[in-house]
Formats: sequence, structure tokens, C-alpha cells
Amino acid sequence: MIVSPSLLSANFADLKSEMDWLNQSPADWLHLDIMDGVFVPNISFGFPVLKYVAKLCNKPLDVHLMIVQPEKFVQEVKDLGAYLMNVHYEACPHLHRVIGQIHEAGMKAGVTLNPATPVSVLRDIIEDVDLVLLMSVNPGFGGQKFIPHTTKKVKELRELIKETGSKALIEVDGGVNAETGKLLAEAGADVLVAGSYVFNAPSPAEACALLKAL
Ligand code: DX5
Ligand code: ZN
Repeated sequence: MIVSPSLLSANFADLKSEMDWLNQSPADWLHLDIMDGVFVPNISFGFPVLKYVAKLCNKPLDVHLMIVQPEKFVQEVKDLGAYLMNVHYEACPHLHRVIGQIHEAGMKAGVTLNPATPVSVLRDIIEDVDLVLLMSVNPGFGGQKFIPHTTKKVKELRELIKETGSKALIEVDGGVNAETGKLLAEAGADVLVAGSYVFNAPSPAEACALLKAL
């Protein structure tokens, strides 16, 4: 399992220490949740903060944009040195063009689906994306309860990927812990995002190791 701890649950007053344990941990990526108060009912952090996080972090950056018009920020995400840029299906009327712009910038491109958006909308884009991020909570806040229906969506997406020969990875975000992570692993997830479960654990690095072993 690829494990991507979400910075949203970190101690923002001590990001240096958070990056220190993360760099030494078995975590694979660092998940960065950017919000605009429009696409989602919350605001998190933006590029001026992330510029310093990126300097401290030696893991590939998995950037999740919960904003309208994410295509306006392809260059900023690239400048962070991001590995992956995730945009919401619901925020992109011209998704095919945005995916092309992300690839032209030299990043992996991910498309994210809200809980109420069916996997079937991906049929005509699945071969062009490197990853699909399925939201297992309504985006905007950490610490929410996992929506159980997500495991069905993971299975359905796994079928679509097989059928089309797509190479897309399946990532899941929201309410992931040891229990829900196991269900997601069994359903066919490749990447687990975890915020509160990892950052509130007595040993965040051990929590990452546990998810990684699923
Ligand atoms: C929610 C964010 C998540 C969040 C997950 O909108 O996209 O990445 O940090 O937090 P947990 O793991 O606590 O549900
Ligand atoms: Zn996220």
C-alpha cells in the first residue's frame, strides 16, 4: 500500500518537527489539501506556506486541490516540485484540457470524485489519468467519518481500470484508519490518505507502517 499522510491534521505551529518524523517514517507521499472556501466550506493553507513545507519534506508531494478553476494554479503546484496534482471532476468542465496542462507541466495527473459522483463519469478520461482519488468523506475537513459506500466505488473503479487497460492508481481520502484501510485494501485501493489517524496516533510513523502493511 502507498501511504500519503495528510498535512491538514499536522501541528501547524511546529511543521519542522512534523516533517522531521515524516522524512524518517515509512510514509510514501505527503498529501497537501488546498481549499478555497468556495468549492468546499473551509480554507486550509496556500502556496506561501507550502513553499516552506516543500523545502522541509523529502517525500513526493501529492497535492489535492479543493478549489474552483484549479487550472489557474498548475504553475504554482509545479513550482512546489509536486509529484502529483489532483483536481476535482466537479470543478473542471474542461477536465481533458486540465489533465493535459498538468502533464505538460511534467506532473502526474489525478482526478478526484466527491462521494456523490459516480465512478461511471470517468469512462472517457480514465486512460488519460495517472490516478483517481475517491473521496470517502465530503471534502473540506479532517476527522470525519468514513462513508462505507466507498468500498463499492473502489471495486467498480478497479473493474473500469481493468476493462479499459488504464494504468491509473486508486487513492482514497477521508476517515481512513486501520479498520477502514483494511476494507479499502481488500476492495482494491493502491493509495491511502490519512490525516487524523496518523497525526493523532501515539506514534505517527508506526501508524504509517501499519497502513503500509495492509
Ligand atoms: C478532507 C481532506 C483530507 C483530510 C483527511 O477534505 O481532503 O485529505 O485531511 O482527513 P482524515 O484522514 O482525518 O479524514
Ligand atoms: Zn485530501
